[in-house]
Amino acid sequence: MALLDQSLFHYSLLSIYLIGPPTFISLKFLQAPYGKHHRPGWGPTISPPLAWILMESPTLWLTLLLFPYGQHFTNPKALILMSPFLFHYFHRTCIYPLRIYRNSKTTGGFPVSVAVMAFGFNLLNAYLQARWVSHYKSDYDGGLFWWKFFGGLVVFVWGMRINTWADGVLLGLKREGGGYKVPRGGWFELVSCPNYSGEIVEWLGWAVMTWSWAGFGFLLYTCANLVPRACANHKWYLEKFREDYPKNRKAVIPFLFKNQMQSNIPLDCVLTAQSLFRFVCTTEKGTQESMTGLLQSPTEELLHGTDKEFSINMMPHKMMSSENDNLGIQ
Ligand SMILES: NC(=O)c1ccc[n+]([C@@H]2O[C@H](COP(=O)([O-])OP(=O)(O)OC[C@H]3O[C@@H](n4cnc5c(N)ncnc54)[C@H](OP(=O)(O)O)[C@@H]3O)[C@@H](O)[C@H]2O)c1
Repeated sequence: MALLDQSLFHYSLLSIYLIGPPTFISLKFLQAPYGKHHRPGWGPTISPPLAWILMESPTLWLTLLLFPYGQHFTNPKALILMSPFLFHYFHRTCIYPLRIYRNSKTTGGFPVSVAVMAFGFNLLNAYLQARWVSHYKSDYDGGLFWWKFFGGLVVFVWGMRINTWADGVLLGLKREGGGYKVPRGGWFELVSCPNYSGEIVEWLGWAVMTWSWAGFGFLLYTCANLVPRACANHKWYLEKFREDYPKNRKAVIPFLFKNQMQSNIPLDCVLTAQSLFRFVCTTEKGTQESMTGLLQSPTEELLHGTDKEFSINMMPHKMMSSENDNLGIQ
């Protein structure tokens, strides 16, 4: 029995590392179809608050169910270590759905297929984290336990603060009605998705607290899941709000990570068609770059004027010389 449990734990641990790369790659091309990326064709849907309760619930019930079977069940350090995880998921499973419930009339349905995948992941992850903390972790008596715990806890609490604050801002905007808006203030001045940044920081803190492959695997998976989604949200904001969207905002990592090419272009030309184009632009860093792209903006929005700062989203495109030359943009 013990051997069976050990194999199950090791295969589960291996799985969390193996599912990260395919998740990252598939989300780069195919967005999880809920919220801003909601689209038909993903089967039946349920109300978002119900989806969140159901899909996140294993993190509570499975953790509580497994914990008493661990050899460290009666060790207060194990209980203390497990509590930030339970605290986060109590919020996500019980409080967050209540917070979004007030907006549910203006929110599209949540695809059952996505909820089932999230449910499966939460089963795997709750098993791994609960079993590690309650049974397999072996250094509770080591001198560094409290250092790792409190060091990680500071990071975890900081991340959770950013995450819940950012979710609060977004839910506040949603409650105002009138569709999606540009969120502003605090971390939103740095990144498009501070709720995801906060979530990643939280699980970084957890990885430090547990000092384990299980915790680190969860952190990697969270990045694989949330970074491409943050990039897609960032792109979505740029496309929807165009020049009204703050130019220096990154997708998810402040100052560092930007998924969309954007330039401040002094335009001294008039563009007349939605077409291939070539131009020399001055980037934010002041360097001159020659680029070729497929213009996505409607023509009317492209004004001429030498000093106008303009942000263009471009899709790299193979240059077709005659057409570009006809446009004569340099
Ligand atoms: N650990 C993980 O792997 C993981 C995975 C997924 C999510 N999460 C966490 O779960 C929470 C929710 O995730 P999510 O993907 O649903 O976040 P989200 O897409 O940012 O949406 C959060 C809420 O705010 C609304 N909203 C978003 N942007 C808005 C805007 N510009 N104007 C007005 N309302 C806006 C959304 O409405 P709509 O629903 O109508 O868009 C939704 O109700 C986050 O804290 C996230 O970190 C964690």
